[in-house]
Amino acid sequence: MTHDPVLPGWSISAGAAVRYDIVFADDVFDTVNGSLAALSVAAYPATTRRFVVVDANVDRLHGARLRAYLDHHGISDDPFVLETSEETKTLDTVVRVADALDAHGVDRRQPVLAIGGGVLLDVVGLTASLYRRGTPYLRVPTTVVGLVDAGVGAKTGVNHGGHKNLFGAYHPPVAALLDRRLLATLDRRHVVNGLAEILKIALIRDRDLFELIAARGGALVDERLQGDDDLEVLTRAVGGMLDELRDNLWEKRLARLVDYGHSISPALEMKALPALLHGEAVAVDMALSTVVAARRGLLEPRDRDRVLDVLRAVGLPLTHEALDSDLLRAGLAATTRHRGGRQRMPLPTGIGSARFCDDVTEGELAVAAKELGDYR
Ligand SMILES: NC(=O)c1ccc[n+]([C@@H]2O[C@H](COP(=O)([O-])OP(=O)(O)OC[C@H]3O[C@@H](n4cnc5c(N)ncnc54)[C@H](O)[C@@H]3O)[C@@H](O)[C@H]2O)c1
Repeated sequence: MTHDPVLPGWSISAGAAVRYDIVFADDVFDTVNGSLAALSVAAYPATTRRFVVVDANVDRLHGARLRAYLDHHGISDDPFVLETSEETKTLDTVVRVADALDAHGVDRRQPVLAIGGGVLLDVVGLTASLYRRGTPYLRVPTTVVGLVDAGVGAKTGVNHGGHKNLFGAYHPPVAALLDRRLLATLDRRHVVNGLAEILKIALIRDRDLFELIAARGGALVDERLQGDDDLEVLTRAVGGMLDELRDNLWEKRLARLVDYGHSISPALEMKALPALLHGEAVAVDMALSTVVAARRGLLEPRDRDRVLDVLRAVGLPLTHEALDSDLLRAGLAATTRHRGGRQRMPLPTGIGSARFCDDVTEGELAVAAKELGDYR
């Protein structure tokens, strides 16, 4: 630090250690299953009472069992039910949740329970990070995206001004409880959507995971990841994701392989809202970079075709009509700005490996988009 030699100056340095557990359990709303109650009490033993926020669709489908559970374990008799959508993933909703939290009168050390998909987890996580400068919270993801991505990292956020997650905070939960049985009630499209994030992990670092998905194909979706082998798909995806995140939780390093599929997709997703889901936009981005990598000679044509075939086999889109040159230019520019002035775009170098590139052009992407449009 430089400061005026005659006037005083100080330098403060402090570190905050972070530790949170991510555990799988089956049927977490079954009253005999102690996992949720135990994690909640371990996080704050002074009282079992919690402010609980639950996604409205989860409440419709699982509310009776959830309420019986919360009642049985003395957690809550009045969960706050939140209608969620990408369009209402906003600061207004954060304020609504904070008002409810305040009305509930929780002690700021009492962890909030967040039960829902990525939207609910992001909204409640951001609320928790802001409420009294930081309140703990526990996540129970109920979608595939929640289980393998939004539920397990440190990030929270809401959309603003046409930008995805413009406002957000790094606020890891005290714990995340992953129950794949909750996925059984998801509609087909949201299972497919989540498979995009699982495929992302497979493509950047885990060829065996790719082969598992390729072997199961559409059955993964039909069975809502309830099959015996599907636990391995989920655990490899979560484990791989955490291995990528754990040393870079605050994203000080801007080159992140988990950004694969997330270079053009934020712009595409916001432009095509609400028609296109997050994972669908990620799939289009992964297809684009697969073709760009193959055209550059980084990826064998055989591997390119396998990737595109598997994306399609599980029901993901490879392209979208909104993918015009304006969008490609804007998407590249936004990504470069977001990643500290360099593209740092992961491009596949095989199935299960990738490298970063800084010189992808809008023209290359446009050619790839055209090629994907013709792909049969
Ligand atoms: N914080 C992060 O690190 C991170 C990572 C990835 C994605 N995200 C965010 O996650 C969001 C997408 O999450 P998502 O795909 O879970 O969407 P979502 O939260 O909108 O859930 C999808 C739909 O499924 C419903 N639903 C939830 N659980 C259900 C269940 N068990 N059965 C039936 N229906 C159920 C929801 O009500 C919703 O209609 C995006 O906003 C994205 O930005 C955040």
